[in-house]
Amino acid sequence: MSALEVNRHVRDSASWSMADPLGVDRRSCLRLDRNESTRPVSGTVAAALSAHLSGAGFHWYPSDERLTARIAEYCGVPAQSVLVTNGSDQAIDITLRTFLQPGSRMLVATPEFIPFRRVAGLLGAQVEGVPYEPDFTFPYVGFRAAARRRPEVIVFINPNNPTGTLVDPEFVREILVEYPDVPVIVDEAYYEFTGVTVAPWVNRYRNLIVFRTFSKAFAMAGLRLGYAVADPAVLEQIRKLRNPFDVNEPAIVAGEAQLSAMDEVDGHTEEIMSKVKPMVLEFFRDLDVPVVPGSANFLLVRPEDGAGTVRLLRESRVLVQPLHGPLVEGMFRLTVGQRQEMEEFARVFTHVHRETGGRTGPRTPSGPVTRAEPDGT
Ligand SMILES: Cc1ncc(COP(=O)(O)O)c(C=O)c1O
Repeated sequence: MSALEVNRHVRDSASWSMADPLGVDRRSCLRLDRNESTRPVSGTVAAALSAHLSGAGFHWYPSDERLTARIAEYCGVPAQSVLVTNGSDQAIDITLRTFLQPGSRMLVATPEFIPFRRVAGLLGAQVEGVPYEPDFTFPYVGFRAAARRRPEVIVFINPNNPTGTLVDPEFVREILVEYPDVPVIVDEAYYEFTGVTVAPWVNRYRNLIVFRTFSKAFAMAGLRLGYAVADPAVLEQIRKLRNPFDVNEPAIVAGEAQLSAMDEVDGHTEEIMSKVKPMVLEFFRDLDVPVVPGSANFLLVRPEDGAGTVRLLRESRVLVQPLHGPLVEGMFRLTVGQRQEMEEFARVFTHVHRETGGRTGPRTPSGPVTRAEPDGT
């Protein structure tokens, strides 16, 4: 069969593969590699989904107007400033497709959340990457210098994945003001963990586009729900690239339900950020293993033997995300789950650390070290 002619930007892109390289069944593992919530959706959400199923059912095409209004209220913007999307991955996809074309340049601090680079590549656009500082802080000077070269799109990921770095919102404001004709994207996937946001500023800055997601603090990664917040005229353009029914009804029902029970989300993020994460940081400090704490529900760890550690953890059915490339080579990203899960992680890591020749510190985290069920929940 003769080869089909494929768009060259598609042909030159790598394929996505989310399958485990060793064929490990993720469901049987402690999954600390994707920054998902390790707790399932709340009882409120589960009840709303089952009530909807038994009452209205899921046989109609979805309609997202009410959810859009609720999100707008949550963000402090008018409903016309919100576009719900199939995960914030879709917001990234359709927004970049709105503004980039072959030869365009996208400015972002690196290493960054990979889909931005992938979508830009598929569009034939160039990535102007400014490396984070060696101490993982935001590269303010280099970024400002690169902005002067007038990229077609400027991206802030706040906080960034994988580095966990926060950028000062006042710096974002300066860029918004200095370049009013350049779309400035701020990805706030982890907003609920940091409390840092510029979303209400879309009422003032017409070049600002903010992305958020229900995949992290809201525990709905499997439902695929995200949104973009921007000036209505900007959203009107982006909306052209979204199909009318891309966001499914279960996601809409779940999103509405959780937004009316925000105390559950707040309680969860508070527990992770002010109790469990400090406990995990203390664990690594005691072992003398360097970490980059970041500002959200994940951190970076630099063991002496990065590849060996990730492999041995995996053999014990603990999944973490190995990182590659400048600044992060040999590190892994660790999602902070619930207390019991992190105690289990500590138990396994201590063993692996010893096996890979690391120094063994004085103690494991406070509290009893219990064995979690192997499904990781
Ligand atoms: C910075 C950042 N943006 C966007 C996403 C995508 O989230 P979603 O599940 O909403 O597509 C992630 C997921 O890891 C992320 O880390």
